[in-house]
Amino acid sequence: MLLPEPQREGKIFLEEAIRKRKSRRRFSVRSLTAAQLSQLIWAAKKIPSAGALYPLELYAVIGKDCVEGADAGVYRCEIGRITLHKPGDLRLELASACLHQMFIAEAPVSFVIAAEYERTTRRYGERGIRYVLMEVGHAGQNIYLQCEALGLGTVAIGAFYDDEVSSVLNLPKMHRPLYVMPVGYAREL
Ligand SMILES: Cc1cc2nc3c(=O)[nH]c(=O)nc-3n(C[C@H](O)[C@H](O)[C@H](O)COP(=O)(O)O)c2cc1C
Repeated sequence: MLLPEPQREGKIFLEEAIRKRKSRRRFSVRSLTAAQLSQLIWAAKKIPSAGALYPLELYAVIGKDCVEGADAGVYRCEIGRITLHKPGDLRLELASACLHQMFIAEAPVSFVIAAEYERTTRRYGERGIRYVLMEVGHAGQNIYLQCEALGLGTVAIGAFYDDEVSSVLNLPKMHRPLYVMPVGYAREL
């Protein structure tokens, strides 16, 4: 599915996004637009990468009626395009795989950032592992800040069973999940 072109200029200053950023763990049922999804993918991908080797793979777990124009499923994300990888609304299964952090199932979309370490370790050896972990931090922070700029919320999730997340998403063996980031309109408590 093609997505609208991401915007290269935003409505709020970077300082405001940094100031407002916090982890949000309550989401309303409101769906996201294809433009919002596109913007978030762009932000997640527009990051520095050691040796420009780009070891990260971005997946989106999209619920039923949760993103304009997209069926429920797991999608592979590129700038301007998502490709269905596994059909079905898998948000509950994903939340269970994340130590039952059930707010994940409330979010219309969860990004799963996975890494193919070998792309970086092939050149940098053992040291490549730390480079990959640094890069996922860049991607995660960009998603946090882009969410704030779009009036959305997210939280970085590191607590999950790797094998379960991999199996829920049907990830290829070499794509190891590092971060899960549920995204939606934040609902204040
Ligand atoms: C590596 C990492 C893993 C995290 N894992 C989780 C998690 O599994 N569940 C969760 O609710 N928050 C998780 N968080 C979010 C932190 O709890 C949160 O960033 C911290 O409490 C500071 O709050 P703030 O983000 O609102 O500033 C994680 C954050 C990081 C950086």
